[in-house]
Amino acid sequence: MDTPDKSWVLITGASSGFGEEFARQYAAQGHSLVLVARRLDRLQKLAVELRQQFHIEVVVEQVDLSDIAAVIRLHQRLHARGLEIDILINNAGHGLQGPFADAPLDAVLSMVQLDVASLTAVTHVFAQSMRMRKRGKILLVASLLAYQVVENLAVYSAAKAYVLRLAEALHRELKRDGITVTALCPGMSDTGFAQAAQQKLTTLLRRVMMKPAPVVRAGIRALRAGRVSVVPGWANKAIVIFTWATPRWLHQAVMSQTMNG
Ligand SMILES: NC(=O)c1ccc[n+]([C@@H]2O[C@H](COP(=O)([O-])OP(=O)(O)OC[C@H]3O[C@@H](n4cnc5c(N)ncnc54)[C@H](OP(=O)(O)O)[C@@H]3O)[C@@H](O)[C@H]2O)c1
Repeated sequence: MDTPDKSWVLITGASSGFGEEFARQYAAQGHSLVLVARRLDRLQKLAVELRQQFHIEVVVEQVDLSDIAAVIRLHQRLHARGLEIDILINNAGHGLQGPFADAPLDAVLSMVQLDVASLTAVTHVFAQSMRMRKRGKILLVASLLAYQVVENLAVYSAAKAYVLRLAEALHRELKRDGITVTALCPGMSDTGFAQAAQQKLTTLLRRVMMKPAPVVRAGIRALRAGRVSVVPGWANKAIVIFTWATPRWLHQAVMSQTMNG
């Protein structure tokens, strides 16, 4: 049997969906965990369950990550406790579907703040500590939508394109410091995301929807292998190949129909 790896994993957005699943899979491997999100009750319940089941250390941090000062304080608090993060799962994110000009500006900007600014800040502060220790692994959760623009998901798909590009550039840049950076690009998956994003679930989307467990397994495997990015699931991989192989007018029209019905 493998010896449990007790190194620390920090997971943002651990109170539901992919984040909760990352916590379960890393706990099963014996890792120590820092769970971050806003809903403290959900984090605490998960922490109690994982400590009992896997006999691991779990630290719960209630943080609103859209506040960049709170991100910096989180990093300082963990550092002051001597708790060094070896694996960062930068997963917290929010979507918003609907016509761009109809959405309230503050809702649009708060999505950019969480999906772009906060993700960049979290990556920055923990990459600095990893660089000093000359080791670390970072996973950025992007999306299949990073590969193409989508009508009525304009800001979200643009934000996720940023995440994918950031991961690809940092993958090269941080390699010399002993740090690997990987982008996970899931397609439609069965988490709390669609509901929070007021996203329409078309018949086709329901058919290709994946469960969080295989998506997270693919992310952990790619991170461990030091890959630059991974698209989980054959249907999602086929969509990326279709995007590369066809002119923009065609794949953009097909994606719009798939996402909007
Ligand atoms: N599900 C999909 O179909 C899909 C597809 C592609 C990519 N993704 C990406 O996957 C990631 C995880 O989403 P999910 O599908 O697991 O959805 P989810 O179940 O809604 O989870 C989102 C997580 O982000 C946390 N979060 C949201 N705002 C936050 C804030 N201001 N500060 C701290 N934490 C915050 C939430 O926790 P609290 O509410 O407790 O703060 C929650 O734990 C996102 O980046 C999303 O864009 C999802």
